[in-house]
Amino acid sequence: MARWARSSGTPVTPATPPVAPLSVSAKIQPLTHPPLPPPLDPAAREAAMAELRIQALACTRCPNLVSSRKSVVFGVGTVHARLLFVGEAPGADEDIQGEPFVGKAGELLTRMIGAMGLSRADVYIANILKCRPDTPGQTSGNRKPTTDEMATCIPWLHRQVDILQPAAIVALGATAVEGLLGKTLGITKLRGSWQDYRGIPLMPTYHPAYLLRNQAVTEKRKVWEDLLSVMERLELPISAKQRGYFLSKA
Ligand code: URA
Repeated sequence: MARWARSSGTPVTPATPPVAPLSVSAKIQPLTHPPLPPPLDPAAREAAMAELRIQALACTRCPNLVSSRKSVVFGVGTVHARLLFVGEAPGADEDIQGEPFVGKAGELLTRMIGAMGLSRADVYIANILKCRPDTPGQTSGNRKPTTDEMATCIPWLHRQVDILQPAAIVALGATAVEGLLGKTLGITKLRGSWQDYRGIPLMPTYHPAYLLRNQAVTEKRKVWEDLLSVMERLELPISAKQRGYFLSKA
């Protein structure tokens, strides 16, 4: 059973300019997002991501989220990652700690990454929304980001991808797919089939929170098959044991 059942160089390109302001009513138009810029060398990548983080941490585009947030949850991992995981939005734990996927769903994601033979430090993890969606009048619970919030925040993620230029992206759940691809077809239909995000192969799969709600081995196996497909694409080593995870019980 799977346990989730865990460079350098000289800058050639200057850090890119700040993300232009967007009107709150702008609609999601990820397919019109410009092609990827030329890749940065490792040192320039570090500098550009550090600069972008500073800008994002000062973002005040969504007044409701600015007044309720404890942190801007920018992203975590290495800027040299070949694999980017994208989730929906920070929850309460992430808002407190300022890091994506550190709550229950995050623990499962960390185990999934471990089952691939990687660690969180080998990949990059970010969300569609950098601030926790507010829940006025409630002391707990999460809500899905609105279309306007996603449209307002998505340029930060596009810029992160401009800098990272990973070899593959895993979109965790329907909101991640909608934010990146503008597709609202449904994660059940899309999961397991490679999509294209600005020339980068993107694998949609279920969100770890879904696997926590639905403990069926068949659902875990589906996600594992999607991750195996990602491992094949990245030419990561796959053992017979990894190939067999969840098969005996599926
Ligand atoms: N769920 C997400 O989509 N992102 C997080 O960072 C945490 C939970």
